[in-house]
Amino acid sequence: MAGRIPKQFIDELLTRSDIVDVIDSYVPLKKAGKDYKACCPFHEEKTPSFTVSVDKQFYHCFGCGAHGSAIGFLMDYEHMSFVEAVEDLAARAGLKVPKEAGVFTGPDKDSGTDLLEIMREAARFYRQQLREHPQAGRAVDYLKRRGITGEIAHEFGLGFAPDGWDNLLRALGKDDASREALARAGLVVKKDSGGYYDRFRDRVMFPIEDHRGRVVAFGGRVIDKGEPKYLNSPETPLFHKGRELYGLFHAREAIKRENRVLVVEGYMDVVALAQFGVDFAVATLGTATTRDHLERLFRHAPEVIFCFDGDRAGREAAWRALDNALPALREGWQASFLFLPEGEDPDTLVRKEGRDAFLARLKTAIPLPDYLFDNLMRQVDMNRLDGRARLVELARPLLSKMPQGILRQMMLDRLAELSRISVEKLPVPAAAAEPAGSFRAASSSRTRGPQEPASNVRRAIALLLQHPELMEKMSDENRLADLDLPGMPLFRALHQLLKNSAKLNTAAIIESFSDSEYKHHLSRLAVWDYPAQAENLEAEFHDILNRLSETSAKQRTERLLHKESAQGLDQAEKDELARLLSLKRDISRLSPSRH
Ligand code: UTP
Ligand code: MN
Repeated sequence: MAGRIPKQFIDELLTRSDIVDVIDSYVPLKKAGKDYKACCPFHEEKTPSFTVSVDKQFYHCFGCGAHGSAIGFLMDYEHMSFVEAVEDLAARAGLKVPKEAGVFTGPDKDSGTDLLEIMREAARFYRQQLREHPQAGRAVDYLKRRGITGEIAHEFGLGFAPDGWDNLLRALGKDDASREALARAGLVVKKDSGGYYDRFRDRVMFPIEDHRGRVVAFGGRVIDKGEPKYLNSPETPLFHKGRELYGLFHAREAIKRENRVLVVEGYMDVVALAQFGVDFAVATLGTATTRDHLERLFRHAPEVIFCFDGDRAGREAAWRALDNALPALREGWQASFLFLPEGEDPDTLVRKEGRDAFLARLKTAIPLPDYLFDNLMRQVDMNRLDGRARLVELARPLLSKMPQGILRQMMLDRLAELSRISVEKLPVPAAAAEPAGSFRAASSSRTRGPQEPASNVRRAIALLLQHPELMEKMSDENRLADLDLPGMPLFRALHQLLKNSAKLNTAAIIESFSDSEYKHHLSRLAVWDYPAQAENLEAEFHDILNRLSETSAKQRTERLLHKESAQGLDQAEKDELARLLSLKRDISRLSPSRH
């Protein structure tokens, strides 16, 4: 994956960008000595153990073991792909991501950058068709009938896919490579017999943007009646339905201003609400609200209001959303549920009663804890002892999903109160088990501390990794060429890397090894609290290298002695052995205890 972007560019990028700025834009950091600290965004904690090092350009959480470079942070926190993270950083640093020149001249299969270009072109094409195509009147009339103004249609980039099998194909599919790319972008469909045809035909087109406002997919609504009512882009390298939210990029400023976000079900709802000045709404894309969605939304605002139809399907969707919201409910985050009168959706309702009445409804949204208990209590007979026991049983799996914290504690208290059982007796563990998969290897306590047995090789690697400038102090590295100890292949690889590209920082070094088995190892060594004072580092490094060199000499001596008895030595080897043996005598006289 990383292969398409030149390694030197990644190095330069990680040298030029500042991880503190990057992380601080998501998680406010506080200066603590040389480093910066915050409560870890990757696990629940009350005292900050998330540390960002300026020197190393690396972050590390001593609580959960999360760690990485600025690229890694964007990938883990913002769920970006590697290429997206690189592009994001490059944009911040004002750099353009170069593409590795190669024999393959077609679109880049991996980076997705060409797919983004294609999506942009397609969005432009559909918008243009809405203005110019002879048949566009049908779409324009339809939008007018739905009460959509030209202005709002323009704001949301609405377009028109004309009827026919190859309108887009003819416009953008000039050659085989571009037709293939259109297919990968989900805009055309490849026939079994070979050719291609347009996926979207005779539909009003809603471009779907990612978190940076780049078109990654489309939703196409049939004009008037037809099946399916909405046709969406398939999953592509750019588009994952369970992750994107329609209108989020458009609404992000308003969401910040309002400190809340409204989640609705349909494209038309978002557009209509915005037209009426309720501009902080987003829509899921025909899927349930996922945990991924919620994590993303809570990053924009602490309050999420779900808006559902009052019918049975709406209530079921609300319950699914609740279920997914529970693990995401950290301290200070609130979710509530608004149910609309049957037969209405936000689009029809805001047109009927206007902005103010609609906003007033938001105030009546039911807080998640109330919704949860109301709903469960409706399923049991609270007047019966076994009914209240059942309530506990129903609530148990739900509350167990919540992260540990005050909210969880308060909900447990409420459950105790409702079921008239003392809270200590509730069969819900006090500490939430982290949902499988989200917890990182808690290697942290082991990566710290001088108690970790550290071989000299390990120390040498750690020092060079954490202080690449020590490379300049290294001379005569040939003395270690034959040294056979665990870790030496990595030491040599690291040494080679730094010899070829001076001035890499820790993060850049680790990214250079991103395709290698060493990456994990290096990440741990990068955050290892090396037991030496800064002013002693150089001496320490030399000392370690000398000791390694002694070991190397010893190994060589043994090999030569072995060879001597087995097959004899030539003159050069005899001389070398003599030198090594005298050296050994010197060393053992100086420091008898060393080995
Ligand atoms: P709705 O059927 O409630 O659509 O589906 P809507 O937004 O109110 O549309 P209008 O008002 O009839 O034009 C809600 C959402 O579910 C997804 C779409 O994302 C839609 O916006 N959906 C619906 C589909 O993906 N495919 C469908 O066939 C229908
Ligand atoms: Mn509707």
